[in-house]
Amino acid sequence: MTFRVPKGTDDIMPPASRRWRRVLRLFDELAERYGYELVMTPVFEATELFSRGVGESTDVVQKQMYTWDDKAGRSMTLRPEATAPVVRAYLNGGGRGVAKYAYSGPMFRYEQPQAGRRRQFWQVGVEYLGEDSPIADVEVIELGYRFYTEAGIPDVSVQLNSIGDAESRAAYRTILVDYLETRRDRLSEDSQRRLATNPLRVLDSNLDTAEVADAPSPVDHLSPASAAHFSSVKAGLTDRGVPFVEAPRVVRGLDYYTRTVFEYTAASYGVAQDSLGGGGRYDGLAGQLGGAEVPGVGFSLGIDRVVLALGDAEEPPSLDAFVVAVTEQDHAEAQAVLARLRASTIRADSLARVASVKAQLKAANRSGAEWVVRVGDRPGKVTARSMKDGTQEVVEIAEVVAWLTQ
Ligand code: HAM
Repeated sequence: MTFRVPKGTDDIMPPASRRWRRVLRLFDELAERYGYELVMTPVFEATELFSRGVGESTDVVQKQMYTWDDKAGRSMTLRPEATAPVVRAYLNGGGRGVAKYAYSGPMFRYEQPQAGRRRQFWQVGVEYLGEDSPIADVEVIELGYRFYTEAGIPDVSVQLNSIGDAESRAAYRTILVDYLETRRDRLSEDSQRRLATNPLRVLDSNLDTAEVADAPSPVDHLSPASAAHFSSVKAGLTDRGVPFVEAPRVVRGLDYYTRTVFEYTAASYGVAQDSLGGGGRYDGLAGQLGGAEVPGVGFSLGIDRVVLALGDAEEPPSLDAFVVAVTEQDHAEAQAVLARLRASTIRADSLARVASVKAQLKAANRSGAEWVVRVGDRPGKVTARSMKDGTQEVVEIAEVVAWLTQ
């Protein structure tokens, strides 16, 4: 009997997983470089965290959650996103002061699967809590942009918008609903439904792009404070050399946003107009979850999509050296050399069992190692041979780590 992965999920296997490892490491390193501490929250939470946090009227909550009753009858949900859980964790820890958190892990949404749209997918993200300054927005947007650039996606664009604070949103909502009501009959069924529950989302409906082309934009109805915040974010991004375009139709699919919202897109990722990542400010979320009013801003980036955008270009080899024993008698010495390499920062491997040189070289080739280190040609020495250009050098065993490192 054979089993397969559930629909919309994947086994991430080598060689593709090399790319995953590289980009996940990169994110980890970048988040640390920018001062974000790691947080890990459970993969499942009380359902109400998401219905209250993400919003009852959103597609995520209405259609996409994996929800079940546990044995004690409590409603539980596999996390569809991590912002509400991270804010919950912050509030549980006292919920005061500035906190900068990074996370990385699987999320779950019951979607119609296609390339880049999975039922289990991987997000990395940051949440900058307790800070109202537009510099926090700028830092977060810049960090995401740097991640894509350093990962090797060249043409990333930041689609930037502001949907205003609670006050400007309420005023704008009335104006938008008045406008949408005048053309209700021509809107898709989905948008007609959203008109009542979540009118802002009609703006980014793929079915009604033409119909709402001249709809009033949130940025034209910002309160003075929200407008000033938005100007500062744009000026900050310009100062830091982060390219962005103003995107009045980007309103985001989750309910917790206020003021700044943004999405990352790339020409190399053109699947169904989907974004590579997105985020924004959510100054009302902590209050919504029963905590104090704590401002926050963050993003989540979809790693499945990052990997797709990178295409099938070769990843650099993940091994530096492969150790080969020339004869059976050299096997123990070869294992000692291997241990010496691994005790330094050199990534090294060998065959565990005694085998012919030919079999070992075949394995070395398959491993993608940059160097073959032969043990047994001369006593006390190894022969280091570059797999790239075939050049080789005889090196003292005591010197081999230093020699390979430079
Ligand atoms: P989101 O826009 O729902 O935002 O998701 C962010 C990213 O996760 C998307 O741009 C995409 O790359 C990836 N993603 C979402 N759904 C799927 C899927 N079914 N398959 C593959 N990738 C997917 C959030 O989740 C917010 N928590 C972002 C945020 C953080 N806002 C503030 N802080």
